[in-house]
Amino acid sequence: MKIHLETERLYMRDIEESDLEDLFELDSDPEVHKYLGNNPVKDRAKTQKIIKDIHQQYKDNGIGRWAVITKDNNEFTGWSALKYETYPINNKNGYYDIGYRFKKKYWGLGYATETASAAINYGFSVLKLDQICGAAQIENIGSNKVLKKIGLKFIEQFYYEDTKCNWYEINRKDWEELQRQ
Ligand SMILES: CC(C)(COP(=O)(O)OP(=O)(O)OC[C@H]1O[C@@H](n2cnc3c(N)ncnc32)[C@H](O)[C@@H]1OP(=O)(O)O)[C@@H](O)C(=O)NCCC(=O)NCCS
Repeated sequence: MKIHLETERLYMRDIEESDLEDLFELDSDPEVHKYLGNNPVKDRAKTQKIIKDIHQQYKDNGIGRWAVITKDNNEFTGWSALKYETYPINNKNGYYDIGYRFKKKYWGLGYATETASAAINYGFSVLKLDQICGAAQIENIGSNKVLKKIGLKFIEQFYYEDTKCNWYEINRKDWEELQRQ
């Protein structure tokens, strides 16, 4: 098991084949997918393919979404981390995206803020990135709040398919400034 980051309450490690049931529980929940295109996963074969794709991203890009595990009882809560995004969004591709997704029972505990903030620090301090981006549907109040809390700046609104979204960025200079505060 490869642990990449440790926060106050959580471990962030590679997603493994054995996470299948937890990932299926996460992605088959319509509430979790409410602001993700409203298309929850319906079978485990799809989840298996997602795990395979994430492993390919680890190999190709040296980064991908990480499982978030509670330190106190070793529970899989969801995922959070950077991803090198090659699918074009808002006329941009080839960028590092910060993202997170948790099982509903773990919402409202500060896990998204805690882990995404650690992932941003990892991106700038370990991967030496120049910029990290993030996007959320405008109605996804929680996600928009997290993006701002971890230091990303609102840049513009854009449409993804028919959905209005907010686009955010943080540059190395902004991050360095935040470290000095
Ligand atoms: C969005 C999501 C990741 C937020 O995770 P979380 O761990 O509950 O977020 P946090 O506890 O770190 O909350 C950060 C802030 O947002 C607020 N918040 C979180 N969810 C909220 C909601 N649904 N409505 C209003 N505010 C919300 C929190 O109260 C907190 O505010 P505060 O700092 O003023 O106290 C979680 O709801 C989720 O997994 N949703 C489904 C997947 C998803 O939408 N992912 C994002 C795609 S862009």
